[in-house]
Amino acid sequence: MASVVILISGRGSNMRALLEAGLPVAAVISNNPTAEGLLFARSHGIPTQAINHRTFPDREAFDTALAAIIDTYQPDLVVLAGFMRILSTFFVDHYQGRLINIHPSLLPAFPGLNTHERALEEGVRIHGCTVHFVTSKLDYGPIIIQAAVPVLTGDTSATLAARVLAQEHRIYPQAVRWFLQGQLALTGNRVEISSASDGQTVLCSPEIKL
Ligand code: GRF
Repeated sequence: MASVVILISGRGSNMRALLEAGLPVAAVISNNPTAEGLLFARSHGIPTQAINHRTFPDREAFDTALAAIIDTYQPDLVVLAGFMRILSTFFVDHYQGRLINIHPSLLPAFPGLNTHERALEEGVRIHGCTVHFVTSKLDYGPIIIQAAVPVLTGDTSATLAARVLAQEHRIYPQAVRWFLQGQLALTGNRVEISSASDGQTVLCSPEIKL
């Protein structure tokens, strides 16, 4: 049966959404032994492992050890869910085409950290989240699915983050399901989804009332 390994570093709310969606998760692995998400995974009977990056001399050594653990589960897909480590080229190449990430912005806008603060600073009207295949360029790579939310008057980074996070929890299980069902095909930097609708919906923020 197809399986997924999830990598986390902290809270693990996206991991939780994936587990609650009933996806076949073989293991949850964290670089942070005290990651909150590990407790939830364990309480759901999912095997967990912690591998502390601080105990390795460099990034390559950590990534090599991490890949060795992941590979014991022989996953079809490796899912980064709030995994706060930059991955080496070796690691990304090893899982090419079967490593995905979720990022709290509409990429390619706002790669990196503090996306909600930066969206507010820039005054964008529409913000959101992106699930994408991982390439060696940080927060870049073929986009599988995105969800957009409006930025509202009076938003703080916390209110905006919460609105985006609710959408993350919807799109990540969908992206994983598509992958496991073999519905994603890569053509260059574009992902074709065999089941997706035409996507004719237009998003406007603020809404235009005629
Ligand atoms: C999410 O916003 C995700 O997009 C980003 O890190 C955050 C992780 O949250 N990569 P959680 O640990 O899944 O709750």
